[in-house]
This record gives sequence, structure tokens and C-alpha cells, in this order.
Amino acid sequence: MSIEKALGMDREVRVIGMVGDVKDTKNGHKILAVEDDQGTRCKVLILNTAPAINDVYVNDQVIGIIGRPGNKEPGRKRETIIADQIVWPDVPSNNSWTANDNVSSVAFLSDVHIGSCTFLERTWEKMIKWLKQNSEEQELNYIVLPGDVVDGIGIFPGQEQELSITGIYKQYEALAEHLKEIPDHIKIVVQPGNHDACRLAEPQPALGSVFTGSFDSNVLLAGNPVYMNIEGRTVLTYHGRSIDDWISGVQKLTYENPLAVMKEMLVMRHLSPIYGQRNALAPEKRDYLAIGTVPDIFVTGHVHGAGYSEYRGVKMINASTWQDQTEYQKMHNFNPDPGIMPIVHLGTGRVDMRDFRK
Ligand SMILES: [Fe+2]
Repeated sequence: MSIEKALGMDREVRVIGMVGDVKDTKNGHKILAVEDDQGTRCKVLILNTAPAINDVYVNDQVIGIIGRPGNKEPGRKRETIIADQIVWPDVPSNNSWTANDNVSSVAFLSDVHIGSCTFLERTWEKMIKWLKQNSEEQELNYIVLPGDVVDGIGIFPGQEQELSITGIYKQYEALAEHLKEIPDHIKIVVQPGNHDACRLAEPQPALGSVFTGSFDSNVLLAGNPVYMNIEGRTVLTYHGRSIDDWISGVQKLTYENPLAVMKEMLVMRHLSPIYGQRNALAPEKRDYLAIGTVPDIFVTGHVHGAGYSEYRGVKMINASTWQDQTEYQKMHNFNPDPGIMPIVHLGTGRVDMRDFRK
């Protein structure tokens, strides 16, 4: 029901609204400011004894609230709903990976950062050698690059000191040369990230032909984020810039554990719910950052971590990087996890985090 109707009730109510503000009280309760699609606002009180107190709340997420209106004060309109339960969009609890007899595999190479002084050329070559020896036999038929395929130009102050290739066209040409080393039977998908020559506001369109003219015909250019159907499996890949906003907005989320952020994205069924922070969102008629369809495989990059986990049957992967620690990362005491290629078997769902650093 609408918030307006709910506030007039003397029984259990159920409303849906968007969170506009999250406050913690000194007694450990939470107060959310919530607005419904009629534009009516109310406060939602989550008591420190309610199970929902430990959940993650961020601005602009949409939630369901089951609760009861607060006591009526004489002469004043009611404005609070005391929540008994918060309902998340979430992935259905019975969602699971169903194995089939597909024999193909897909691999992910995030944050390659061609043009950076710390691009790991030798580790990349090891990976290429392995692909040449094994990819055909193992039917590794797809490779997706979820953004930051080059290091870009002018991305942060002083970046020119950390570049081995100082021209943007030359960076993409060098990338084309590196991609040509990948065996021809493999279909390649390239997405932009926040270091690429592309508008920053998400959803990002695919890279323009002015940069990709030297790419082979087995390279498909996609936007960011993108849903792909790969031999019947639904793959959602997103570079992951919003992870910065999730981490700065929620205390228990950290750069060390991007998989925990990805789980929250699935719970909220949105890649970037928070509006107006670091991650720019383009106004579009349709919300391309919403997770409408539950993917089989969900991949992000951006934070240069490497990890794999599963949530309600969805395989979540943070797809490493091919750039060693930069001066900027050293300054922030950040240790990346480079040189790891996650490979997912499309039939069995087996995930192999293949490490090329050794
Ligand atoms: Fe990156």
C-alpha cells in the first residue's frame, strides 16, 4: 500500500520505497528516510533487536517494509513505521546452477592496463603460452575483458610518470597486438572501464571505432555493464566503479573483500544504487544498472582483486588485473592480486582461478 495509507492504519502494513537517508541512533537503532512512488515520505525505525538491524542499507536502494505505524501523538500526523521485517529484491532462495553437458569454458581478464609501466608483460606472455597449449583442447572458447583494458591518459594527477605508452591511440594499438596473440578460435569481448577512452557515466557505451580500428574481427565490443548469453548461460559483467561508493558508504565493506560487495549488489538487485557520489550515472529511460535477470555468472573487476564465491547459485568472480602495484596503490597501502585468470566451465560450473605469477 502507499505510505500515506499505511500511516493511517492501526495494523500491520506493507510498503515499498526508496531509501533517502540512513541514520544510526545512539542506542543502536536505525532510522531510514523512505519515499514511495507517490512521493510520500516516512521514517522507518529498525530496532536494535530486529534481525534486519545487521543488513546493509545505502541511499537510493529500493526495499520492502513490513511493520506497524508508530503511536499516534495528539495533534500530530504519524510519520513513522516500525519495521518488523525488511524485504529485499534479492535472488530467489531456490536459485541454483543446473549442470548440463556443455563442454565450453569462458575466461575473464580484467584490468589489463596496457600502457602502464607496471603492466605485467611476462605474466601475460605466460598466460598466452598456456592458452596456445591448452585452450583448444579444453574448449576455452570465450574471453571477456571487463574494462580498464588500457591505462588511459590523464586519469589521475601525475599519471604520465607511470605510463610506458603516453598516447591513447598507441595504447589501444598495443592492446590490439596483445589480443592478436590469443588463439583465433577464441571469441573476445572488450568492455570499457573508468580508465578507458569512453564517457565515464554508466552505463558506458562500447569503445568507439576510432580506437578499435586495429582490432581483429574475433573481438566484439560491448558496453559496461553488459548481459551476455554464452551458450545458454547468462553472464553479467560490470567493470565495478560503484564498488568505491559501496565501500565509502558502508563501514563493513572493504577493498579486501569485493565479493561481499557483489553479494550486496545481488541482494539489492542493483549494480550501483547510490546516486550522486563518485560513480557517475547517466540519466536513461531504462535503468541499465538494475539486475533484472539473475545471472549464472557475475563478474566485476576495478579493485584488482582476485576471488571467487557463490551466492544462491550465482557464481561471483572478481577478475584480477594484469598490472602490478602502482605508486598510487603503494601510497594507499593497497596490494593487488594480479596475473590470475578465472575460467568457468559452462557445463559443470567449475571455476578455476588459474594463477600465472609462479
Ligand atoms: Fe583498473
